[in-house]
Amino acid sequence: MLKRKGIEHIHPPEEQIPFEFLPAEYNVYKENLKEWANELFINKKFPKKGQISDYENQKIKEIYENRKKEFEEGNSFLIPALNDIKREFGVVYLEYMEELSKLSNLSPSYILGVATFYTMLEGFDGKAEIYVCTSLPCALKGGEELIEKFKEKAEGKDVEVREWVCLGRCEFAPVVHIPYTEKSFGHVEEKDIDEIIDIAQKICPWKRNKK
Ligand code: FES
Repeated sequence: MLKRKGIEHIHPPEEQIPFEFLPAEYNVYKENLKEWANELFINKKFPKKGQISDYENQKIKEIYENRKKEFEEGNSFLIPALNDIKREFGVVYLEYMEELSKLSNLSPSYILGVATFYTMLEGFDGKAEIYVCTSLPCALKGGEELIEKFKEKAEGKDVEVREWVCLGRCEFAPVVHIPYTEKSFGHVEEKDIDEIIDIAQKICPWKRNKK
């Protein structure tokens, strides 16, 4: 009779389903990431660019090599590298992920899976971005009305206003932050909006990097 001692004995070995984590190089999805990319979400936030320039190729290679040197173990270079790509170009195009895939040997679908997990990596046609916090302390101080006003004023401008969760500066609620910079604003009022939009367009790193 089978002795059952603890959870590992619930199923006799012959009934156990062989299970192992798939390596990152394993192509679960089609290698052709462009076909796999889904219309509604991916194409909007992680779009295709078509042709990428020699400059872009070179930059991605540089980013990969620097981050790989810094984070040698396994795939740990990947998130910092994607973050650098976003900071450099403002959008992580599918073709950039394909370049990273060629350099690193990780499958494009694996890279896409990682990138889509992080909302900060999403891109908006290379527009500057503004985060408006609407978590509880900021919401209590008018954060929700503020974001509506920001959206109205940003209409037609080269800036994307994004609702964000706690930016860690609740004592200054409501708080607004320009991502990929050190710039945050506290106790923001409607009269400050135009100025913040102008500043975002000036200091946004990918706008300044534009070639
Ligand atoms: S809730 Fe807005 S900064 Fe914390």
